[in-house]
Amino acid sequence: MSASFSLEGRVAVVTGATGLLGIQHCKTLADAGATVYAVDMQEEPLHTFVRELGDQHVPYVLDVTSAEGVLGLRDQLKSNHGGVDILVNNAAINDMVERPNSTVHDSMFENYGLDMFRRVMDVNVSSMFYTTQVLGELMALAGKGSIINIGSTYGVAAPNQDLYRDVNGVQRFYKGVAYPVSKSAVIMMTRFISTYWGPRGVRANCISPGGVQNGQEEWFVQQYSARTPLGRMALPDDFAGALLFLASDASRYVTGQNLQVDGGWTTW
Ligand SMILES: NC(=O)c1ccc[n+]([C@@H]2O[C@H](COP(=O)([O-])OP(=O)(O)OC[C@H]3O[C@@H](n4cnc5c(N)ncnc54)[C@H](O)[C@@H]3O)[C@@H](O)[C@H]2O)c1
Repeated sequence: MSASFSLEGRVAVVTGATGLLGIQHCKTLADAGATVYAVDMQEEPLHTFVRELGDQHVPYVLDVTSAEGVLGLRDQLKSNHGGVDILVNNAAINDMVERPNSTVHDSMFENYGLDMFRRVMDVNVSSMFYTTQVLGELMALAGKGSIINIGSTYGVAAPNQDLYRDVNGVQRFYKGVAYPVSKSAVIMMTRFISTYWGPRGVRANCISPGGVQNGQEEWFVQQYSARTPLGRMALPDDFAGALLFLASDASRYVTGQNLQVDGGWTTW
């Protein structure tokens, strides 16, 4: 059985590789034997991280919204490896990342900017479409491959804005509209690809993580945990098992699925 989880000899691309979860995804795939192309636009942290990951792995500086850049990555994969076996579409932005100093007023739906909506859709959805089209085509030509899109609980459940109200009843912010809408699109993109390229041996699945503990204030951690059947926020390496399963032959008959790895958050 363990052989079916091995990624020995496989080439994997992970976008958003220097982020909180991207680092873990790269480590999981590398530990299982894959050669990892770690893709991110943050040059310095990327080089530092990949040096630690190991010599056989490749730091690839790329803004995933650049069509030309994605074609460059495809050409390098083609000439160095003949193709690619695993694509993890993990890069994404949300309002807090893009505008850490925005006010509660900015975050209200009534005030949510069209520019921000477009920006989130561009990074989270359009770039995923394009990396999948360009790198997935290499997989379809080879007759094999696994595409794993990273969604979110907010792809299936709308935000409960009470979560962002602190113990004193102060609404700290409203979860913006663009991120949930973008993550919902990720799930349908996954389904589309699974039926379109299934006959050519390419599988597409989605992992939808729950909220990850990462220095949030205690009141938030407590409120989030209380709404989670398993009673806690996620840890960054809670997704390793799901990722390895979907990347490897262990899931060879699984496609078009959205695997919620969220401690049960979306169950009730
Ligand atoms: N952290 C969470 O609580 C959580 C919960 C649910 C889903 N997710 C999803 O997991 C994935 C990873 O989240 P994270 O918490 O690691 O985010 P993060 O912000 O820590 O990392 C995102 C990474 O993507 C990179 N990136 C952003 N835009 C890019 C672009 N245009 N081109 C190339 N790289 C780009 C950033 O440089 C960063 O390294 C995302 O898809 C996110 O929506 C995260």
